[in-house]
Parts: sequence; structure tokens; C-alpha cells
Amino acid sequence: MPENPAPRKRLLSGMQPTGTGALHLGNLEGALRSWVRLQDQYEMFCFIADWHSLTTRYEETEKIAPACREVAADYIAAGLDPSKCAIFIQSHVKEHAELHLLLSMITPVGWLERVPTYKEKRELMQERGGGDESVSYGLLGYPCLQTADILVYRAHAVPVGKDQAAHLEISREIARRFNRLFGNVFPEPQTVLMEGAAVVPGLDGRKMSKSYGNAIYLADGPDAVADKVKNAFTTPTKIRKTDPGIPEHCVVCQLRRLYDPDGYKASWDEDIAGERGCMQNKKELAEVLNTVLEPMRSRRQELLADPAELERILQNGAERARAAASDTLSLVREAMHLR
Ligand code: ADP
Ligand code: TRP
Repeated sequence: MPENPAPRKRLLSGMQPTGTGALHLGNLEGALRSWVRLQDQYEMFCFIADWHSLTTRYEETEKIAPACREVAADYIAAGLDPSKCAIFIQSHVKEHAELHLLLSMITPVGWLERVPTYKEKRELMQERGGGDESVSYGLLGYPCLQTADILVYRAHAVPVGKDQAAHLEISREIARRFNRLFGNVFPEPQTVLMEGAAVVPGLDGRKMSKSYGNAIYLADGPDAVADKVKNAFTTPTKIRKTDPGIPEHCVVCQLRRLYDPDGYKASWDEDIAGERGCMQNKKELAEVLNTVLEPMRSRRQELLADPAELERILQNGAERARAAASDTLSLVREAMHLR
């Protein structure tokens, strides 16, 4: 009889269902592709952080549930396999909330106030005209809830982009503090740097982001992709076809290199030599993107057309997550003498 193999290390990651929930090429290249690679080596939990989206969007709660389904469809369309990786919605696993409450008792307010994203979000809420009262206790506690998301699975590591580094640091500090006070329950979650994860430029040259309106979505149809690419920023000094381009300054060239690594070179050389116009570049990029996106687009459409199947996947993911989370909560209650 072969001996039982060592249990696989546990990884957890998630995204917020912002806006319509649809994910873009930045989310795909910066996060999802790495998760897909990792699901074969690790026990993976990939969730949709619907409670987190309440920290800034509590006026539009009716949009959150449909947005979660869009995120789930994109996770699966990008290659996450529900048979390998538990895909679920945060609010379906109440253990996140119980652990959040317990951790909130040992998390110093000063730690939370120092998190850079809190300062940014506070300003954003105030710019939106909400005044001081729009900044809630829940927004301040965002990293504490995020810590509960991670610790409730006693996850060894969390694959996230650099923008989440400060959140992970505070998660480790909270884990350490808990362990010191009540005994060693939690591993300190490590950041998994997502190897080769590209920062994808948006159509206007800034980082691609939902909040900048510069994104190409997995949900975009072929015509929408072509239209968006048509309006993308190119080399500002290239007015005529014969003007030389600077591919490093051209969003269209950047995206071409990312999505056509074997074939982009000739188009870059012609661009630099002033032998190709932006129109041709854009037309070809739209074709390249549509070829890459088509299988994901049809998979997400299939999933969204069968809501019962998608619910089944999410319920199944939540059950697996709950089993792991409730084990942790038993240890936590025991460690804290809560009976
Ligand atoms: P957005 O900026 O659109 O609101 P999020 O902040 O919700 O995106 O990001 C979710 C995940 O996608 C994070 O892990 C983040 O690092 C990654 N991500 C977002 N935009 C990009 C981008 N342009 N390039 C690479 N990764 C990105
Ligand atoms: N804050 C993350 C984001 O904005 C989402 C998130 C919530 C998360 N809880 C998490 C990511 C736990 C990793 C682990 O994308």
C-alpha cells in the first residue's frame, strides 16, 4: 500500500464583484491565469468577496448578487475548474463573519487606520460627496475581514497582486497576535508572487481598471473589442502612417506583444520603421484578441445561460469551504474558551 501523500498546501484568493462584476484582461493576466496554474499543485479556494463590496457600495446592494455570478462565470471561463478548486461566494460561508468578529476584538484600530488603501478609499468616499458619515466602521475593518477570509481556511499562502501587499502584512500581524494570545492556531499566510503576471495597460495608457473605464472585458463581444481597440491610445507623435511609432508608448503594440508573443515582432519592427499605420495595427490586434477571447466568451455565456448549473457549482464550492472553515472555528472557539 502506498503511504498517504502529504496533504497539499492550501491557497486562497478572491476578488470583489465591483460594478457589473465582469472581469477584464488585467484581472485575467494579473490574477486568474496564476490561479489556474496553481490549482493543480495546491488545494485552492477562490471566492467572490461580496461582503467586501459593501464597504464602499452599500447603496447599490441589488447589483451585488448578479455581479457575483458574472465573476464566477469569468473564473470558470478563464480555466478555474470547480472540481479542483472550491469556487464560492463569501457570504455563503458564515464562518468568515464569526471569525471576523472575533479577530476584530484583537485588532488595534491604529493598525487599520494606517493601511494605505483605507486612506485612499476614505478620500474616494468623501469625493463622491458622502462626507464623513459615508466612511463606515466596515470600511475601516476591510483588512480585518480579509484576514478572516484567509485565516478561516488556515491558508498557507495567498496569490494576489502587489496592490494587496499591505493587506497581507496586516493579516500576518493579526495571525501572530492571535497565536500569541490564544495559542498556535493559524499559519502566517505568505504572499505568493504571481510569476510572470503582467500589468496590463488600459486603452488610455493607464493601468487597466474597472474604475477608469479603460478596460476590455472577457464579456465584450467581437464588435465591442474592435470598437474599443479602434479608440485606444497609440504613439502620440505618430500622426501619419509613415511617422515612426514607439511601441513601448503604444497600448495597441503592448497588447499585441502580450497576446501574440510569437507573431508581434514583425509588426513592431514595421511600426518603428514607419512602415505600418495604426489602423492596420488596431485591426490585427482586434483579431488577435478576439481569437484569444472567443473560447472564454462562449464558456461564460454557456454558464450564465444555465443559472441552475452555476448555482450548483457555487453551492458545492460553499459546502467544501464550509467544511474547512467550520473545523477552524472549532479550534478557534476552543482556543478562546468559548463554549
Ligand atoms: P480593478 O482595478 O479593475 O478594480 P481589482 O483591484 O478588483 O481591479 O483587482 C482584482 C485583481 O486583479 C487583483 O489581484 C489585481 O492585482 C489584478 N489586476 C487588476 N487590474 C490589473 C491590471 N491592469 N494588470 C494586472 N493585474 C491587475
Ligand atoms: N481585497 C481583494 C481585492 O480587492 C479581495 C479580497 C477580499 C481578497 N478578501 C481576500 C483577496 C482574501 C485575497 C484574500 O481584490
